[in-house]
Amino acid sequence: TQASTHYNFVKEAPYTRLCSTKNILTINGKFPGPTIRVHKGDTIYVRVHNKGNHNITIHWHGVKQPRNPWSDGPEYITQCPIQPGETFNQKIIFSNEEGTLWWHAHSDWLRATVHGAIEIFPKKGTTFPFPKPHKQIPIILGEWWKKDILQVLEEFVVSGGQPNVSDAFTINGQPGDFYNCSKPGTFKLVVEQNKRYLLRIINAAMNEILFFSIAQHNLTVVGIDGSYTKPLTTNFITISPGQTIDALLQTAMSPPNRNNRQYYMAARAYSTGVNVTFDNTTTTAILQYKILNDTVNDDVACRLTGQPLFPYYDLPYYNDTNSALNFVTSLRSLANQDHPINVPIEINKHIFSTISINTFPCPNGYNVNDTCQGPNGTRLAASMNNISFVFPNKIDVLEAYYFHINGIVRANFPIFPPLLFNFTGDFLPLALQTPMNGTRVRVLEYGSNVELVFQGTNLVAGIDHPMHLHGFSFYVVGYGLGNFDPKRDELGYNLVDPPLQNTVMVPKNGWATIRFAATNPGVWFMHCHLERHLTWGMDTVFIVKNGKYKQAQLLPPPPDMPPC
Ligand code: C2O
Ligand code: CU
Repeated sequence: TQASTHYNFVKEAPYTRLCSTKNILTINGKFPGPTIRVHKGDTIYVRVHNKGNHNITIHWHGVKQPRNPWSDGPEYITQCPIQPGETFNQKIIFSNEEGTLWWHAHSDWLRATVHGAIEIFPKKGTTFPFPKPHKQIPIILGEWWKKDILQVLEEFVVSGGQPNVSDAFTINGQPGDFYNCSKPGTFKLVVEQNKRYLLRIINAAMNEILFFSIAQHNLTVVGIDGSYTKPLTTNFITISPGQTIDALLQTAMSPPNRNNRQYYMAARAYSTGVNVTFDNTTTTAILQYKILNDTVNDDVACRLTGQPLFPYYDLPYYNDTNSALNFVTSLRSLANQDHPINVPIEINKHIFSTISINTFPCPNGYNVNDTCQGPNGTRLAASMNNISFVFPNKIDVLEAYYFHINGIVRANFPIFPPLLFNFTGDFLPLALQTPMNGTRVRVLEYGSNVELVFQGTNLVAGIDHPMHLHGFSFYVVGYGLGNFDPKRDELGYNLVDPPLQNTVMVPKNGWATIRFAATNPGVWFMHCHLERHLTWGMDTVFIVKNGKYKQAQLLPPPPDMPPC
């Protein structure tokens, strides 16, 4: 393994998008942030110095950090935030991840601008399970608000209703040709003909699942969430916030359209919530074929060819559930000799968790129009098994656990919902509209094989939820629509080549089942990766106990854990 140290300064920097300029938090002044490149199995050290004006933490999304939750990053779960002027040294231990992951702030909504790609190459001496790509390009999909992101968060929390939607989606930080003042900055990927490119696609958007495609070009998906898949050739992908998809792009022998050498790559929202407003705009970047052996300047030649072609027939519409689910449920692990799988078979912990949108009544003395803008004058909330998660704020869960500080968490997150009912029907128990509040966690024995069924509900509003687990990758063994029925649905589980992911899109009014072995001792956050649902409480924590042997035990905390 290799060790290298990265110096990262959290600082404000002015950025101009959509005709207006604002200060955003960045790493080293860059937006999107710097790309980290490692080989499988490396350990790196990251020094995070907060020169910004706001508390922050940094999370390594999808990096399992064996025995070392101290560097995982979610604020008040594994650490207190790094205050302005302070420094925290994080040790990032890569184990079996290979492909693409990413890093992002895990503090308030700062990940909107504080994020970047992690490229994990095969171990030295081994190769990709596909022909070597000519070039590797991060494609980071994001969202941009003209307002300060902390103001967006503040207004959202105060309102009790839905957040403001973003003003643009972005590709590598740029809104693209279809937005005001954005054309000059549009991200452009110049390619050579008849070459293979590896696109490392990341959905860093805050609140929207996205469709992505490239005009006149197929993509061959070869990995998801830092794990290889069987090659899947498709004309679009569906990608949830948190997810990363590796896709090969084979360029044509000559530009596929004789009169045009520019093709749009485009992304827009997949949104199924009823009465949920979303950003319905489309972001674009340009794929441009280089002229070989030509004296004409590339850009001049391109201007002569007119508008880039748009993927009209490939990019699904926002409500195209069939396309979205079709793609998501078609992914399979590579599952070959070099990349074997290890699906837990004997399950010793079954958990069935509803994931719901809920409401709280408007508190006495509060103004319905100002602060209770949920349906019928309520405040919107979200829950798992009807517990709406409350973050501690004096100390984080990990330190409370490690130092035996009582009264911070209750170790009784339910393994079953309080009521069995028709989760996806129309007439749902009103009693469940109002969840319970609490910092409830679930303790797992070291080495237990966990099966977790996420059941979407239609309580206040049904919508797809990208559920994310820290500290593990899990096998997604099944998906379905409607209510989960163990007798029927367990028979359909894929235990042969299920994809290994860290984020799973649970379909609206449906369910998804994941399996993992609890062999990583520590404190691990689980939550919906739609930021508004995380804030509303669609979260919980797993505490995995130490095993018997030293190699199965939590590492000691680093000396510079930030104080609260
Ligand atoms: Cu992408 Cu809890 O994180
Ligand atoms: Cu959600």
